[in-house]
Order: sequence, then structure tokens, then C-alpha cells
Amino acid sequence: MRASRIEIIPTGKALGAEIQGIDLREIRADEFESIYRAWLDHQVLLFREQQLTDEDLIGFSRRFGELDWAPIQETGRRFVDGYPEIYIVSNVIENGEPIGSLGAGEASWHTDMSYLEDPPKASILYALEVPPEGGNTYFCSMYRAYDSLPGELRRRIEGFTLKHDATYNSGGYVRHGAAAIDDPLNSPGNYHPLVCTHPETRRRFLYLGRRRNAYISGLAVPESEALLDELWSHATQEACVWHSVWQVGDLVLWDNRCTMHRRDPFDAGSRRVMHRTQIKGEARPTA
Ligand code: OGA
Ligand code: MN
Repeated sequence: MRASRIEIIPTGKALGAEIQGIDLREIRADEFESIYRAWLDHQVLLFREQQLTDEDLIGFSRRFGELDWAPIQETGRRFVDGYPEIYIVSNVIENGEPIGSLGAGEASWHTDMSYLEDPPKASILYALEVPPEGGNTYFCSMYRAYDSLPGELRRRIEGFTLKHDATYNSGGYVRHGAAAIDDPLNSPGNYHPLVCTHPETRRRFLYLGRRRNAYISGLAVPESEALLDELWSHATQEACVWHSVWQVGDLVLWDNRCTMHRRDPFDAGSRRVMHRTQIKGEARPTA
């Protein structure tokens, strides 16, 4: 059997590695195992120069587990006929309607679909068209965020649960079927432990999900807000973050449990088209 072609190049930052030497349309079982291991170790993997159809993207994604259907677009439309698993992130407008979500503005820090009882364990984003400038995606390690918390703060949050809002997506748009509300106590969403144990690595991580309408169960809203602000500024500091500059053909796979991501805005006059899949969680987030 020929040697594995895979080369793993860590970013040297808190998280992330580039995987070289592999065409994702044809991976052997042992190569997939190395990729899976590298993904658990580095949390975010970047593969460059891929040439994938939607079917190839779905095929690669399915190796990680069953896929979730994509959330319905802000306009109420489902994205790709015949491929309900594909979520399009795009600012492109065709026939007067956006072909995808999130527009050209900033997408604020978040974890995908954490408003569900069982959020996806991974997301995969594949770049079809990228703008000449901006629109880059940043990732932060919630292992690092937890491990580097001051001891007093770590003890203070032990046992807390946090509501993850279901009203707004990261672009600030109201989700399909939701009504605008900015009351953290009464907004819809699901509660998850604020500190979770990763079901595969058994490492602990801070689970913040999204800031807007977040609420720590049992606290008065002003106390919850103050504590969340403290945790958020700690988690999103430079030392926890890595970002990549998109090229067409890049595929980025992230562990959606122990990372968050955000996107820079870009010029609305240029085109950005990304296709995403999301892999179902196999276990509810647990402390
Ligand atoms: C996503 C997402 C940001 C981006 O696909 O989940 O948040 O970089 N995308 O487009
Ligand atoms: Mn996202």
C-alpha cells in the first residue's frame, strides 16, 4: 500500500492546520482517519485547491456523519434544489433575491445552529467565489478560552447554563419563522452548559455560541450581561484566534463544538459564494 499523501501543517496559533497533498474527491480510509484525528487535534482544517461539485462536498461531509439540513434562508427559501444539505453563504442577488445568507456585512462571532437542542458537530465551508478583499473568516479556540480563564472566573461559572438565541443569525438577520425580539429573558432558544466536555477529546471548553440575547440561567439580566461581556472579551482575544485568507477552491472544516467563527465585511459590489454543509451532533452538549 502506498504511503499516506497527507501532510499536516499546524498554523502555530491557538488552533488550525492546513492539510496538503490530498484531493478530497478520492480519500482512502486510512487517510480519512488521519484527517479526522488532525481535525480533533487542531479544531479547524484548511484544504486548498479543491475542485468539488455539491455532490463531492456532500460525499466528503458524509464521512463525518449524518448531515443536518441547511437552515432556511432569511427570505424563506431553501437554497439548492435537490440538495437540502447545502447552505449557501452569499451576497449575490439573482432575479431580485439573494441566492444565500449573511449578505456582505460582518458576521459576528458564533457557533453554527447552537440554538438547536443538538447543534451540528462540524461545519464545512467551500469557497466558489471570493472577493478581492475582505470577507475573511476568523476562528477562535474555546479550549484555549477555557484553559486560560482566570481561576476565580472558572470557578464562578462552574455549573452554569446559557441560553443560545434562535432569533437572529450571525449577520443580524431575523431567522425564518422567528419574530424580532431583544429581550434575553424571553427570546426563544435552547439552554446548554456554559462549560462543556468534548464528547470525543474529553477536553473542557467554554460554550458561548452567540452573544445576542444570550442569557445565563438564574442570574438577573444585568449580572448575566456583565458576566457574558467578561467571558466574551476573554474568549475572542487575539491569543485564541486564527484566520485564513480565502482563495477559490479552499475548503475549511471546523469543529463546531469547541470553536467559534466570525467573518469580516466586504464590498457589497463584489461577489462571494460559499457552499456549506453541517454534520449532525451525535451527543447533546454536556458539562
Ligand atoms: C458559516 C459562516 C461565515 C463566512 O458558513 O457558518 O458563518 O465566512 N460563514 O462566510
Ligand atoms: Mn457560521
